[in-house]
Amino acid sequence: MAVRFDFTNMLAPACSGGLPAETLATSAAAFTTAVADVTARRAAGTLGFPMLPEDAALRAALKADALASRGEIDDVVLCGIGGSALGPNMLRSALCPPRWNELDAEARGGWPRLHVMDNVDPVTMGALFDRVDLTRTRVLVISKSGGTAETMSQYLVMREKLNTLGAEWPKKVLRFITDPEKGVLRAIARTDGIITYDIPPTVGGRFSVLTAVGLAPAAFIGIDIDALCAGAAAMRDRCETPELAKNPAGVFAVLQQLHDQQNGRSIHVLMPYADALRDVANWFVQLWAESLGKALPGGGNVGPTPVPALGATDQHAQVQNFMEGPHDKTVTFIAVGTLDRDITIPALHGAFPDLAYLGGNTIGALLDAERRATAGALASSGRPNGVLHIPKVDAHHLGELIMLFEFATAFAGALYGIDAYNQPGVELGKQFTYGIFGRPGFEADRDRFNGLAQPDPACSV
Ligand code: PA5
Repeated sequence: MAVRFDFTNMLAPACSGGLPAETLATSAAAFTTAVADVTARRAAGTLGFPMLPEDAALRAALKADALASRGEIDDVVLCGIGGSALGPNMLRSALCPPRWNELDAEARGGWPRLHVMDNVDPVTMGALFDRVDLTRTRVLVISKSGGTAETMSQYLVMREKLNTLGAEWPKKVLRFITDPEKGVLRAIARTDGIITYDIPPTVGGRFSVLTAVGLAPAAFIGIDIDALCAGAAAMRDRCETPELAKNPAGVFAVLQQLHDQQNGRSIHVLMPYADALRDVANWFVQLWAESLGKALPGGGNVGPTPVPALGATDQHAQVQNFMEGPHDKTVTFIAVGTLDRDITIPALHGAFPDLAYLGGNTIGALLDAERRATAGALASSGRPNGVLHIPKVDAHHLGELIMLFEFATAFAGALYGIDAYNQPGVELGKQFTYGIFGRPGFEADRDRFNGLAQPDPACSV
């Protein structure tokens, strides 16, 4: 069984706020153009993510490195941010048993814990540094550009600690994952002889989870990266067809883009009903937001706002807004066919019918009933929603899901008429940071920042 997208409630008449029932038929031509855009970029050698699952040599090298370290190390620390952290985080939380980092070595099968920094908060960084024994750790420094301030600061703190252990330790402990040629990290790797895995220049950060960015940390914690890539390849093959009705990523992209641009639904909620998939939503947020939120070449702006949610938890937090707030959202649920385990709810307190109805059911059945109930409630209130059905949370099916979202993002970029692969909007903030920190070459940015309105005491309470 494969991942499938059920879009019944994205359309009328199932949902009164849905798109016209004939939407897929009327979108066929636009979708053909989107497929042509993706095909052309692939042919030009500028869009690398679809072929990543074919790199068996990389997977063999990573598995060998990970196996050689197994038993020798207790922890893997990942220095990275954004696309260099969200994917690894998603792989760990989806594919390792729950609370992986709290399990003992035996329960982890001898594989290490994985700590993904993904920020420069000194409080959490400090707590991690206090805890790990660097002589029993691998530190993966992941940066495509090889110069991101947050990642390089994490690295510098780590590097000083490694240097104090003795000359042989940095080389033993560190692994770099970066551009094959460019960047400071690559230069340090060359000078210091650090084992380094390439991020192909044709793959942007948020599309990089199936490069060494995601596969290296995954291999180090024993995830079946071959199955992950096999699933991704299977979905890629499904997403290559220009026949919209047969293309799951195409249908997802077309319906989301039309709901945004023709139906006022510019907020796209992703709501998995499984704790293991919570970080899929966080990973998707970056992919969708950074790829699609863009200024149009001829003026104006586009871009849906992705929102992560978790079922059933967010039924008690966000669903009130999804039901009665503005008609500006679509909700995509992720439903899991078979959970890894289930728990029967005991039939206790039979004297209380308001409690007794739960007894004899399972927790998993309750979770799924809540998902179906929420979808039905939304649809009956004119709130469009769809369901991505994943048969099981395992490496193969997660690979399918990843590739589906990546293709959907590529198609959506073409449908919006923007470049989904750049992120010019994050540059100014970076330049101001460099200016504030006194980085040479950024004096003009410092001056421009200092020339901005400063916090006004009159506007502070
Ligand atoms: O998608 C992107 O390109 C970005 O979000 C990057 O992943 C993020 O900025 C980190 O960049 P780098 O991997 O170069 O350190």
